[in-house]
Amino acid sequence: MLAVEPGACVVDCTLGLAGHATMLAKAAGPDGLIVGMDVDPNNLAIASQRMEEGGCPHRLVRSNFDQLDLVLKDLGIDGVDAILADLGVSSNQISEPRFGLSFQVDAPLDMRLDDRLADSASDLVNRLGETELANLIYEFGQERLSRRIAKTICRERRTSRIVTTGQLVEVIGRALRVNPNSRRSKIHPATRTFQALRIAVNDELGALMRLLEIAPTVLKEGGRVAIISFHSLEDGIVKRSFRASRTDGIYDVLTKKPLVAGQDERRANPRSRSAKLRVAMRTVRPLEEYTQ
Ligand SMILES: C[S@@+](CC[C@H](N)C(=O)[O-])C[C@H]1O[C@@H](n2cnc3c(N)ncnc32)[C@H](O)[C@@H]1O
Repeated sequence: MLAVEPGACVVDCTLGLAGHATMLAKAAGPDGLIVGMDVDPNNLAIASQRMEEGGCPHRLVRSNFDQLDLVLKDLGIDGVDAILADLGVSSNQISEPRFGLSFQVDAPLDMRLDDRLADSASDLVNRLGETELANLIYEFGQERLSRRIAKTICRERRTSRIVTTGQLVEVIGRALRVNPNSRRSKIHPATRTFQALRIAVNDELGALMRLLEIAPTVLKEGGRVAIISFHSLEDGIVKRSFRASRTDGIYDVLTKKPLVAGQDERRANPRSRSAKLRVAMRTVRPLEEYTQ
């Protein structure tokens, strides 16, 4: 869908372990250039090693993708052929206790993918007022029982600060009157609250919206942008943004409906079940014509 040709300049906004980037590098070849971005220095280091093995020039930068325009400016690049963002976290980050992303491992309640961010999940959980916390869990976690959870968090934190994932799981279990370790419900009772906190801590939706604003300003005519999202909040933002840009004549949308993984892929890689891919192509009229 990105139609990367030899010699192309491609940005992978979410380098991760360079699974996508190494394939993009193969397509772009020795005359191409891959710009890779990630906020996690650990993933960047692993990706850097993998990229060395391919034959394509690359520049890897530790940066949030909402700074894409500035990063390209710094590198002296004024237009790119393709942009990819594969949102969220990588599997190794979920299982890495340091991030505190998983409700299955007891670890510090942190969740910052970028350790330069000021607030950890624990900071939010212990500082926000009850209504603010309930709204956050409802809005970003789509959790119907957010008020009960927020109320119990605020009650429990009066006795002791909530600083580990295990403590938070216990508190959620108490709020919902379920044993968090029993496997009765389809999804773990802490799933939605953990999702909400992760989105808030990393300002995931804000960064995505800023990336979508920047993308058409750095894409060459005919250049493509592909976004893989993993929940409906993200997918809704991508869908609405692409639609609005199509109306403004900035994009042709190449995916009427999002592309999803086929049965074989879902079986082999269960995390692909919730993935949705949307792709748009910058129309051939220069952007200034629309913005003047
Ligand atoms: C789903 S993984 C990407 C996996 C990658 N496509 C691969 O093939 O290995 C998402 C990666 O994006 C990074 N990330 C998440 N949000 C980011 C942001 N706003 N800016 C830059 N990197 C981000 C995470 O640290 C993680 O390494």
